[in-house]
Amino acid sequence: MSLKICVYGSGAREEALKDIISKSPLCSEVTSFPAENTDLIIFGPEQPICDGLVDYYSSKGIKCIGVNKKFSALESSKLFAKKFMVNHGIKCAKLLPVDSDIFPQVVKADGLCKGKGVKVVYNQREKDEFTRKISQPYFIEEFLDGNEISLMSYFNGARLINFCPARDFKRLTSDIKSPNTGGMGAYCPVDLTEIQQEKLKIYFNSLQTALISEGADFNGFIYSGLIWAKNDWYVLEYNVRLGDPECQAVLNYLENDFLSILLNNEEPRYKKGYSACLTVASEGYPDNPVKGDEIILPKDDRVKVYFAGVKSENDRLFSNGGRVLSLCNVSDNPFPLLRAFAEKIFMKHKIFRDDINIF
Ligand code: AMP
Ligand code: GLY
Repeated sequence: MSLKICVYGSGAREEALKDIISKSPLCSEVTSFPAENTDLIIFGPEQPICDGLVDYYSSKGIKCIGVNKKFSALESSKLFAKKFMVNHGIKCAKLLPVDSDIFPQVVKADGLCKGKGVKVVYNQREKDEFTRKISQPYFIEEFLDGNEISLMSYFNGARLINFCPARDFKRLTSDIKSPNTGGMGAYCPVDLTEIQQEKLKIYFNSLQTALISEGADFNGFIYSGLIWAKNDWYVLEYNVRLGDPECQAVLNYLENDFLSILLNNEEPRYKKGYSACLTVASEGYPDNPVKGDEIILPKDDRVKVYFAGVKSENDRLFSNGGRVLSLCNVSDNPFPLLRAFAEKIFMKHKIFRDDINIF
């Protein structure tokens, strides 16, 4: 097999997909746009998936990896996701009445909001402020307190294949009230206790049973955002794609060929140590990032750099978005190395989290 593969999308997650796929013996060429002779399209971001492009290209006879339109509602409609979980006995946070005055509580807008549709509010004033800002319908759910993991799985049309749990750091800073971002860093694997591992298997089986019993007939990634609370895993959200930056961490941690997992039912196998990814963003992110800073990267072969919001002009690099770079390393203790590298990057308005570590 020698496939011409299109990776649809243009962030650091997609750069990582292209990097890893291009090294596969099953791949002859990686492109960014589907063309006449494309054998396989792998979808990165949620928008084209929720717009139904998987269904469209599949109907043209091109093999696609991406959740179909019907199941993309797991991400695009938090209410659809809630119903799916409740119908299949999958644990999730309880819905509260809209006027509930039990704080903290969580306000969730229905629809794709690029990470801005969810807020934990601690009092009525914060609740009013947030609900005034969002234009979609919203609901309120109970606040769960615990550590979170990202479980990325691949549904191959018949069964689910799990990748090792990862952890991302969603907040902009270590301050619990700082805004949610797409992710300022991630690592894998997450060390879990025996009971957490057992409960994860139970969760995983119930998700697989739910998909099969609902007649899921796509090949695609499902991301479960899970929190450990009340001695069990609760689902906080579903995404119908790989997480960014969790994808960068997990793909670089794989020892075997990623395409063989997707196409030949191989189980993932991993390297030793930990794999981590640190996001370098631009001041003002996530609301209003500064753009146009020149970027000069230090030289260190131990760190893999994926471009997210970067443009190149006359062989010079400039920041061009909120999330600018993804720095990756696999070793026993990757974050200090990534931090040291980030410190040395020349970029006037760079920001990155210097407090994140494996825990
Ligand atoms: P979501 O987009 O639904 O994953 O929400 C983004 C973040 O908000 C999550 O990663 C959690 O940190 C937080 N969050 C969402 N729902 C809850 C909840 N019910 N209890 C506590 N934190 C939550
Ligand atoms: N890192 C979380 C996400 O991709 O939604």
